[in-house]
Amino acid sequence: MARCFVTRKLPGGALDRLGRAHELDLWSASRPPSRDVLLARAGEAEGVLTQLTETIDAAFFDACPSVRVISNYAVGVDNVDLAAATERGVPVGHTPGVLTDATADLTFALLLAAARRLHDAERASRFGDWSWEPDFLLGHDVHGAVLGLIGMGRIGSAVAQRASGFSMEVIHTARSGGVPLDELLERSDYVSIHAPLTPETRGLIGEDALRRMKTSAILVNTARGPIVDTNALVRALNQGWIAGAALDVTDPEPLPGEHPLLMCPNLTLSPHIGSATHATRAAMADMAVDNLLAALAGERMPHCANPEVYER
Ligand code: DGY
Repeated sequence: MARCFVTRKLPGGALDRLGRAHELDLWSASRPPSRDVLLARAGEAEGVLTQLTETIDAAFFDACPSVRVISNYAVGVDNVDLAAATERGVPVGHTPGVLTDATADLTFALLLAAARRLHDAERASRFGDWSWEPDFLLGHDVHGAVLGLIGMGRIGSAVAQRASGFSMEVIHTARSGGVPLDELLERSDYVSIHAPLTPETRGLIGEDALRRMKTSAILVNTARGPIVDTNALVRALNQGWIAGAALDVTDPEPLPGEHPLLMCPNLTLSPHIGSATHATRAAMADMAVDNLLAALAGERMPHCANPEVYER
């Protein structure tokens, strides 16, 4: 039996399964443990089930030498230093696939909401601030528009599928094939980001990219906040370089109360809920626990983000 530190309660019954097989140390508060708490509790564990809010870097591994498995409750692993984990022989689990459709659904919800100004419409309806006028709350057409997808992996492809139901023309960048990024930015009516956060994608959508977009275009981000340069986006929205943005992820996250992005016009926001459906979050929990159980049993993890760890 191994000791496992789990940094948050998870939906569904997966943690009961983990608790029957191993000693479970659960952080049950609704906010993340502090760094000190993380290091102290993980320092007594062999397995750690983390969220994207925990930074698992070389200093973590140095402070917690007993840890031999990390299971991250996300498909993205930008919060984990994979090289540091591999160097120490620690496999890192993640949750690809199960959240693809939920994230693609939310992407489309945000795109539609921004296009048709649902945040303004909701406010006007709720506060009675309207009368029927021919030019009231005009938005942008989605049908027939060009959707530019930055990244054509699982989630990008699922968004493309939904776009075909709206008769959109889809163009995309990809590691191989697709159109160059500049062309995508110049041609698209909607630009949606579906790439992982890596040193290459950090700040990819900065001033140059935003100025290349059409002034009528809308930027959608359900991937990771730091792919977009927040300061440049604030200028783009305030100065009308683009027509709007719809963001499920921001940099920083959450945005502090007085942040200039929150004051921008034409901004639709949600709080990093791409995978937040009952069924998806329970499926992610099952996958994260399966990864942990396999690695603790000395077996290959079913979904490992650093498979090279097994080639050492
Ligand atoms: C992920 O899985 O990477 C999402 O951001 C959270 O579900």
